[in-house]
Amino acid sequence: MCGIIAMVGRKPTAEILVEGLKRLEYRGYDSAGIAVRNGEGLAVRKCAGKIRDLEALLLGDPIDGECGIAHTRWATHGSPNAENAHPHFSCDRKVVLVHNGIVENYLSLRSMLEDEGHHFETETDTEVLAHLIEYYYEGKLEEAVQEALKLVQGTYGIAVMHEDEPGKIVGARNGSPLVVGLGDGEFFIASDVAAILSRTRQVIYLDDGEMVVIDADGYRTLDIDNQSVDKRIHEITWNLDQIEKGGYPHFMLKEIHEQSQTIADTFRGRLLPETGEVKLGGLADFEKQLMRCKRIVILGCGTSWHAGLVGEYMIEEYAHIPVEVEYASEFRYRQPLLDEDTVVLAISQSGETVDTLQAMREAKKRGALVLGITNVVGSTIARESDGGVYIHAGPEIGVASTKAFTSQVTAMLLLTLYLGRHREISLDTGVRIVRELMGIPSLVERILEQEDQIRELAQVYAEDSNFLYLGRGYNFPIALEGALKLKEISYVHAEGYPAAEMKHGPIALIDKNMPVVVMCTQDGTYEKIKGNVQEVKARHGRVLALVNEDDEDICEMADHCLRVPATLDLLSPLLNVIPLQLLAYHIAVLRGCEVDQPRNLAKSVTVE
Ligand code: AGP
Repeated sequence: MCGIIAMVGRKPTAEILVEGLKRLEYRGYDSAGIAVRNGEGLAVRKCAGKIRDLEALLLGDPIDGECGIAHTRWATHGSPNAENAHPHFSCDRKVVLVHNGIVENYLSLRSMLEDEGHHFETETDTEVLAHLIEYYYEGKLEEAVQEALKLVQGTYGIAVMHEDEPGKIVGARNGSPLVVGLGDGEFFIASDVAAILSRTRQVIYLDDGEMVVIDADGYRTLDIDNQSVDKRIHEITWNLDQIEKGGYPHFMLKEIHEQSQTIADTFRGRLLPETGEVKLGGLADFEKQLMRCKRIVILGCGTSWHAGLVGEYMIEEYAHIPVEVEYASEFRYRQPLLDEDTVVLAISQSGETVDTLQAMREAKKRGALVLGITNVVGSTIARESDGGVYIHAGPEIGVASTKAFTSQVTAMLLLTLYLGRHREISLDTGVRIVRELMGIPSLVERILEQEDQIRELAQVYAEDSNFLYLGRGYNFPIALEGALKLKEISYVHAEGYPAAEMKHGPIALIDKNMPVVVMCTQDGTYEKIKGNVQEVKARHGRVLALVNEDDEDICEMADHCLRVPATLDLLSPLLNVIPLQLLAYHIAVLRGCEVDQPRNLAKSVTVE
């Protein structure tokens, strides 16, 4: 989604801002722009396309100044062109502003301002904010921003400057993340710490309704009612290397290869191998409630929803607690029934997905205990949850989620053991699961060693334009995830199905042109899935089967096989998803797609 960086204090401002924008590229965008304040006033450059296009523009027509704001835009209102790109001006061209989020009542605000004589230049919802601030401006920018925002319905993270107040930038947040960076003689406002990590590790996270004023001397945090607010300073623990490619051609490939490490990072320090138990500090305060809970509702979107589905199979089988997994976007708009015996788990890599955030707020409003399973420390979902579990996968930059998924699944397993060891899981079973989990990272390495073979298979399938992915039990969510990976980065149509559902409809699609990727590892559903492979072959479909290393039966029937080590059924998703991630990656590369920034997609979806 859109990205913001603003700074004051050091030069070359434009260069530092563009560097920051580059770190936000992964979020997905289609235009970019920058404004700086210098001795002559406000100067703006903006264009459609990539940051490299903005750099070219700045090379031909340079600007610099004592402070500035910059933005990557992911179009919602109005097409992605230079005119609609941020920053946006007021009529008097003294207010200049960048905005993430959506001004829902922009049409009524626009017509009110037009009645007052304002003239609009763009199709965006954002432009009304610049005009509204101009309307209220009486010499103090933060006060005009406060008055303007009181009229706004919707979400915003903004950074704004006024020509008459050189060296000052005002930021405000409601529903769109904003952090304040405290550097060495320089201060930042950004939508994401990645943008400022090369300059500072000290940050403040703004909450909804809060604002910040930065200038060369420091910062001031306040709220929309002009009351001062005390904020804690957080130290970021991520390294710069973690948000760089480290020799890989794409972040996605780097992140796929990190998984033996990141899975271990999720369980490190949390396992008690002697007793098969798990320690989860973020749940300590809720132990009693968790032990008596009678129902769990899991909320998430996309890949996080798939991780929730794996969790449903795990928790129901081992902890014997009924689980429902809900699309966060649907949960929010029906009338969900929750009681004090229900625990809600919100799963989100970014911790900023607005559908999940709003669903979780709805659950809190209805009195449920809400726990967050998130990756980004200090994210909104992490902060608004009652408690939770960080997955510790490190920064995930590729838009297609890979390492966060396996860490989310690992976190679901930890939670299953945590809940289950006090209920249905025996000492022996607990110890066996914990030991097997500790061996998973080296099995992941073994799968990653097959990358050359997977690349060759990708060549076989790269031209196909439709795929079916089939799985049963623990590997039904993996079929969904494999299909999602392929479609989001290669733009190839792919559907995931529970294998037995195929005969209720999708089987009509099968002919010699339809590749079917089938999860056939030897779990409790193995014999059934063999039958499904035969059904596909009988209709001349092409089968790419994922099998265990010693499998012979399926490989005799399938056109191609990918082999993975055997493990416990409930751990098999951690292994089986990896060849599917690599297959999607290599098909996308062969098709010439932009793997890390697929078209139309954003890393964290902060609009509904
Ligand atoms: C994953 O590959 C997707 N890009 C997407 O489905 C993602 O999982 C979804 O938007 C949820 O994001 P979150 O985990 O940050 O909440």
